Amino acid sequence: MRNIILIPFTLLLLASCASSSSSTAVNDDFDVDDALAYCHRQVHRSLDALGRDSIDYTMMPRNIQGNDSVWSCRRSTPDEWCAGFWPGVLWYDYEATRDECLREEAERFTSSLGYLAHRPAFDHDLGFLMFCSYGNAYRITGESRFKEIILASADTLATLFNPRVGTILSWPRNVEMLGGHNTIMDNMINLEMLFWAARNGGDSRLYDIAVKHAETTMKYHFRPDGTCYHVAVYDPDSGEFIKGMTHQGYSDSSTWARGQAWAVYGYTMVYRETRDPRFLDFARKVTDVYLSRLPDDMVPYWDFDDPEIPAAPRDASAAGIVASALLELQNYVSPADARRYRNAAVTMLANLSSDKYRSGDARTSFLDHSTGHKPAGSEIDASIIYADYYYIEALLRLRRLNAGQGILARR
Ligand code: GLY
Repeated sequence: MRNIILIPFTLLLLASCASSSSSTAVNDDFDVDDALAYCHRQVHRSLDALGRDSIDYTMMPRNIQGNDSVWSCRRSTPDEWCAGFWPGVLWYDYEATRDECLREEAERFTSSLGYLAHRPAFDHDLGFLMFCSYGNAYRITGESRFKEIILASADTLATLFNPRVGTILSWPRNVEMLGGHNTIMDNMINLEMLFWAARNGGDSRLYDIAVKHAETTMKYHFRPDGTCYHVAVYDPDSGEFIKGMTHQGYSDSSTWARGQAWAVYGYTMVYRETRDPRFLDFARKVTDVYLSRLPDDMVPYWDFDDPEIPAAPRDASAAGIVASALLELQNYVSPADARRYRNAAVTMLANLSSDKYRSGDARTSFLDHSTGHKPAGSEIDASIIYADYYYIEALLRLRRLNAGQGILARR
């Protein structure tokens, strides 16, 4: 059975308040196994479309736009920041199903990224590239050949750290254009690989870099209400904060939905890795402001401040990222708040799994209605591979939670 009801969050809040159990009747209706089975079908349809016996493993699914029904692929070059998500989707689907064919395909796609570990870092996205692919490969298989690549990748990523600023330089290519050392909110996600490496045989300095980056970002990258700029620019020599601005959002003063989603996910992960209560408080702050600005179905418009709302496009990818983060964050808070965060996450997943957002038979992706870079006119209201990655990650996290198992995290 597909979930076909779009559940307004206000109804869920009422249901949540009325319930003393850890979940509500409404949320219990969401069938996570059915959603994972859907993902599995779509993965096999995608593999069929990629050619099965003649796949070019250097070409990674990136998006499906317009009337297209199959993935448009991009080569796994250093500047293709999304190249790790498709291997990650395959690893997650393998984890969900133990379908051996998926493990083989996941390994082949993952291997095409290995060379990135030992060449100079193109930019901060090395974390997305290597940890979504190799990070999951190692977590699931425990094979040391994957571990070595992750450790090398973490060292390579750390070369972008500027100790005078206290953050990783996100885009070396844009220093001149943006007026200094630039750090984007998305960069928070890439700290996870540094934390992991420090705990798994790498240099302990990687932990210090990740913590310093999170502290500096917490200090400068947010407005008083907890919403974030997309980009923070710093003087590379003095470390002084110069300005906050946007790149993919509506304006410098607006809140780009995926940027805020990266903050929610990032600070939740930083709390997991540090157990520093400052980061938990901050994760909650950036989460609560995100939740307070959502439309009824909890899938955000691409930017919370686009004056075209409600005609503006949505960003299903932000909903998947936040659903996954909330299923982790709910582990760290009081029972009442845990219920609130878990209900929100399940509502997001139920609505993403409805006909309104599912790609279904029309496309081989999991989800429609993500927005990549609206100001550049790129990937607007499309299927995008990172939306699928965080959606299936969130489904797996929910399945573990329902089974009383620990949080799914690369540790
Ligand atoms: N990291 C780029 C984006 O979120 O679109």
